[in-house]
Amino acid sequence: MDDSIIKGFSKYTKQQRINALIQKCGFGESLATWLNSLEAADETTRRIINDLSENPITSFHLPFSIAPNFVVNGKNLLFPLVSEESSVVAALANAAGFWARRGGFQAEVLGTEKKGQVHFLWKGDAEKLRLLFPEIRERLLAESAFLTAKMVKRGGGISAIKLKEMSSVLAGYFQLDASFETCDAMGANFINSCLEQFGKSLQHYFQTSDKVSGGERDCEIIMAILSNYTPESRARAWVECPVTDLLDGKPEEDCQQFAEKFEQAIRISQADVSRAVTHNKGIFNGIDALAIATGNDFRAIEACGHAFAARDGRYSGLTDVKVQDGMFRFSIELATTVGVVGGVTSVHPLAKLAMRILGNPSAKEFMMFLAVAGLASNFGAVKALVSAGIQQGHMKMHLSNILNQLNIPEERWAEIQQYFQDKTVSFSAVEEYWNNLEGENKILTGQ
Ligand code: MEV
Repeated sequence: MDDSIIKGFSKYTKQQRINALIQKCGFGESLATWLNSLEAADETTRRIINDLSENPITSFHLPFSIAPNFVVNGKNLLFPLVSEESSVVAALANAAGFWARRGGFQAEVLGTEKKGQVHFLWKGDAEKLRLLFPEIRERLLAESAFLTAKMVKRGGGISAIKLKEMSSVLAGYFQLDASFETCDAMGANFINSCLEQFGKSLQHYFQTSDKVSGGERDCEIIMAILSNYTPESRARAWVECPVTDLLDGKPEEDCQQFAEKFEQAIRISQADVSRAVTHNKGIFNGIDALAIATGNDFRAIEACGHAFAARDGRYSGLTDVKVQDGMFRFSIELATTVGVVGGVTSVHPLAKLAMRILGNPSAKEFMMFLAVAGLASNFGAVKALVSAGIQQGHMKMHLSNILNQLNIPEERWAEIQQYFQDKTVSFSAVEEYWNNLEGENKILTGQ
């Protein structure tokens, strides 16, 4: 056996894991001290963060930022955001301020239905199963009541179970397609527990019912799992203003031209997949940043959003614009599910803080906030793309990253930023400029 394979890594202590890393990658012994210094100072927080994952060696930091002035349905909110991309928060804050001066964002929830499936094989007659299904459904509901009782009290539970015949995919393949209401919880554990119970009940039914016999008693459960595609759980957000109000202090013709270009950009995102993917990536810059800050599962949110973007059989941009009768109306429809109680949201200290900053919203409110973050992010990106171009804003933030990478002392940043205000930023250009500055400095100080 390959003796470089590490066995039982998850049973190692943190120090043993770091030692293994030092040995395997040739790092210095001081690695442990440095990794330790990156962890939360207080014991409780450190434990909470470490317990979120298997095999931690330290904590990974990202900026926790605030974008102010998000006016949503008349409420003025601060959006907590976590992103590794330097221009994301700036773009969101700009868009929020811009729309706050124009009445803010409007939003509504169009549905909250969550989904899950039991995929199974049954070799009997599909028509017979269809006739038996009302009785089976009653059984599934009754035998999962011990799991649903609490959720039902909160106003949720199982809202539907349908049978789908899928033999065109696999011989004897059927689905139980179930819908759930999970109130303010993401509900993943609840849904998966119900689905696994459905699987057991289904098998038990076939084994014991006097309405089936012989080979009909065999039912093989392939898998039981929630679906992250929830097209019936959706929020919509929109902004609007007179076209003439689209560019601060600019003449009407410029505003008109901007609206036209903006609309063209949106039509392109709706028609061309290459553009649509980048367009939607920009939307998820905002959505993910808010989802991460609040401890929500951004992969689930993204997967659902992208599938929804392809709901008509063609992947397209998630936003839409209408320029009509002198008004500019920009909107998004986002299929998504979120949790505001339970999970990481209730455990991670900064996720808890993020929820408090948002005023501890309900799941419905939070769905609207995500749609708003996506719309704001997209507005910022498309506005920049059809006017000054994206690099201007990006490069300002990129410059800070380069200054950090080159270890340039902070007191020297202003003069470099000033110099690059109207120049193209690149690592080599900044390095060269800094070396020249340093050279001059040495000459002047006689070093
Ligand atoms: C960069 O993170 C996002 C953009 O590319 C989005 C877009 O092109 O719409 C600017």
